[in-house]
Amino acid sequence: MTKTNRRAFMGKAFSAVAGVGAIASLYAMKKSWDPLPSVKAAGFTTLDMSEYKGNELVTEKWRGKPVFILKYTPEMMASLNDDQKTRVIQIGSDYFMVTLGLCTHLGCIPGYNPDEKSFLCACHGGTFNVAGEVTKAPPPRDLDIPPFKINGTTLVLGEEGDEYKKLLEDGKTLRV
Ligand code: FES
Repeated sequence: MTKTNRRAFMGKAFSAVAGVGAIASLYAMKKSWDPLPSVKAAGFTTLDMSEYKGNELVTEKWRGKPVFILKYTPEMMASLNDDQKTRVIQIGSDYFMVTLGLCTHLGCIPGYNPDEKSFLCACHGGTFNVAGEVTKAPPPRDLDIPPFKINGTTLVLGEEGDEYKKLLEDGKTLRV
């Protein structure tokens, strides 16, 4: 190889290595801009609704907030009037109360009494029934219902399905 040829070869090799390096660093930069898979999924909580038991309150989490899931027994369903039933979420042949687990007064987390089938907020004594309706002040309104979409036997919190939009339209919940 002559001196000139060697110089040309070295120049090309250097360019190739620099090119690969540039592509690698661009790729690394793009990866750091892309959201992590967990962040992409953030904002949505998918719940398998076949797992809950009647009259057992389970507190799930959505966007860092507690969400109450209470599956109704046939007796609990029979105790609800027609207006209260409009807040009930039906999934397959099962019925649920799904609300934020935050008191609408100042945001404390009410406790559930399965014997009395009611919620008591210990902060200032507000109470709610199993439909999530306020039954004793100071809470100014019923427990809020988070956005949800029914997808087969799962419930996706964070998506606005038709059933949720109807509750909003009917004034059964505020948008949270
Ligand atoms: S925060 Fe619940 S009654 Fe005041």
